[in-house]
Amino acid sequence: MAHISDLIARDIHAYLHAHEHKSLLRFITCGSVDDGKSTLIGRLLYDSKMIFEDQLAALEADSKKVGTQGGELDFALLVDGLAAEREQGITIDVAYRFFSTDKRKFIVADTPGHEQYTRNMVTGASGADLAVILIDARKGVLTQTRRHSYLVSLIGIKKVVLAINKMDLVGYSESVCNKIVDDYTAFARQIGIEEFVAIPVSGLRGDNIKDPSAHMDWYHGPTLMGYLETVEIEDVAQHRPLRMPVQWVNRPNLDFRGFAGTIASGMVRQGDKVRVLPSGRESTVTRIVTMDGDLDHAIAGQAITLTLADEIDISRGDVIARPDDLPGVADQFEAVVVWMSDEPMLPGRPYWLKIGTKQVAATITEPKYKVNVNTLEHLAAKKLELNEIGVCNVSLDQPIAFDPYQQCHETGSFILIDRLSNATVGAGMIHFALRRSQNIHWQALDVNRKSRAALKGQQPAVLWLTGLSGAGKSTIANMVEKRLLALGKHTYLLDGDNVRHGLNRDLGFTDADRVENIRRVAEVSKLMADAGLIVLVSFISPFRAERRMARALFQAGEFHEVHVDTPLAVAETRDVKGLYKKARRGELKNFTGIDSPYEAPENPEIYIDTTKHTSEQSAEAIVEYLQQAGVLSPAQ
Ligand code: ADX
Repeated sequence: MAHISDLIARDIHAYLHAHEHKSLLRFITCGSVDDGKSTLIGRLLYDSKMIFEDQLAALEADSKKVGTQGGELDFALLVDGLAAEREQGITIDVAYRFFSTDKRKFIVADTPGHEQYTRNMVTGASGADLAVILIDARKGVLTQTRRHSYLVSLIGIKKVVLAINKMDLVGYSESVCNKIVDDYTAFARQIGIEEFVAIPVSGLRGDNIKDPSAHMDWYHGPTLMGYLETVEIEDVAQHRPLRMPVQWVNRPNLDFRGFAGTIASGMVRQGDKVRVLPSGRESTVTRIVTMDGDLDHAIAGQAITLTLADEIDISRGDVIARPDDLPGVADQFEAVVVWMSDEPMLPGRPYWLKIGTKQVAATITEPKYKVNVNTLEHLAAKKLELNEIGVCNVSLDQPIAFDPYQQCHETGSFILIDRLSNATVGAGMIHFALRRSQNIHWQALDVNRKSRAALKGQQPAVLWLTGLSGAGKSTIANMVEKRLLALGKHTYLLDGDNVRHGLNRDLGFTDADRVENIRRVAEVSKLMADAGLIVLVSFISPFRAERRMARALFQAGEFHEVHVDTPLAVAETRDVKGLYKKARRGELKNFTGIDSPYEAPENPEIYIDTTKHTSEQSAEAIVEYLQQAGVLSPAQ
């Protein structure tokens, strides 16, 4: 490397020691393509001499070839590493870069500025201590400045530097700088940024980057590098309440049982009384075990294994805290959700929610509102699209330990994961728990589903018929029900068209409405199965995720998925209700198979090819299946 102190040659141990004990500042840079962000970061790397000789040579060559600086070093080329970026001249992904000076180590997350990259910015900003918000001095506070600042405050970054860049292009004018600072001050207050430091710079010319500018004698504040090197990073994590999410239970032999994890906040000492959440059980810390031997105390950031005095049940995802300063425990929250997937967030759709080391099933009920990230206006929303930010209620299938995000980022933030693809689709920050569920308890009833079904001489069951409109689901379900009736069985048929006349008359055919349609009918069929009935459900139910959700409501062996398969062309030729024709003429929107998707079941219990079998044969096959599955026999 071109730089690096001669300490390396003289005393490598002293050098390594100094390097290891330097503090680390993580920061994010926000700005748009034209604000000169890449140039600024390139300049920081260059001035801190974090460039290899060969990189420097390549930079010189590239600057001549593709540079925009007329043969002078084009620092942006150092940073715009991706080929596509170079060609388009924009920064696409989050790029993390490491550099260091004598005083400090730095990790900078360089995130793209466009609105369509909001999710990248949120990713880059999480974990940052400080944000550098770039402004083009010629343009002043723009929409994008507001958007970036809003995201920075949303993520809870407390330190903000307003880097007023390209001062060389406004003649290093003090009044231009002051005007921008005034404009920004008014806005910053609105969104809860209490303090910021404004530094007039020129990334290109190097003014106020490392050395004070010779052109701005009116400015007496720090240089950008000077500020980054000395700004105090509040390392308060260890002074906050103890939170240790348990990552795994370490049980190498019968004599040792330890709970391993990284302390998210606070401090733990040997002999401390602790409580485990959500169970609420208490014990005392006997040992704090690490790779380097036992400790008498450990603080936030350390990976440790605790052993406790009592044999209490603890599993992965539980949170260890001190009894006098506990996190909340709840299964419903209000949270800000940033949507990160091309597939929109649909209320009622099941996702995995991962918070700390815990993963639970979650659904988002209707968003309360979404935020226009440019104007900060609140807008009504039925769903969240890629990069949209909404305030939503989130409902989990079990209680978890948490803190409001403002109090603890680690135990107050979560990600949402698609249950089919396992991709991260959203990120959230908890506002507060909804207490409504606390006052609603399960009422134990003496007469249960088993006794109700036994009286009817059958097993509770759901037969879930899915397929395109016109596939013949209703016809087949109707025949099955008649046969079951003849066998003296107790049934109920829930049919899409019929239920949509009553319970679901408020729902249409958008993806969001279909999700809600299926959620309701799944819940109703669960109640009916509880009543001991054999329930036939005949709904298109086009989405795998919701059919899965329906299945998950039932005990093993109770849910039977029937794929009534008819090729689209055949269903369209039949067109009993004339709806396909309407859809083709464009008079009916979101029609399944035409302009709304149908996701065929992958492993249905029963598969019916309606091009090969008549409805009678199909109904016969289903009844036979039910007989074999024991559904029609009395409970043992
Ligand atoms: S689902 O997709 O939400 O499961 P559901 O089974 O309740 O649909 O209702 C489907 C029935 O509604 C169809 O059989 C058809 O008669 C009627 N229908 C009206 N508009 C549409 C549409 N856009 N897409 C599908 N079916 C529609």
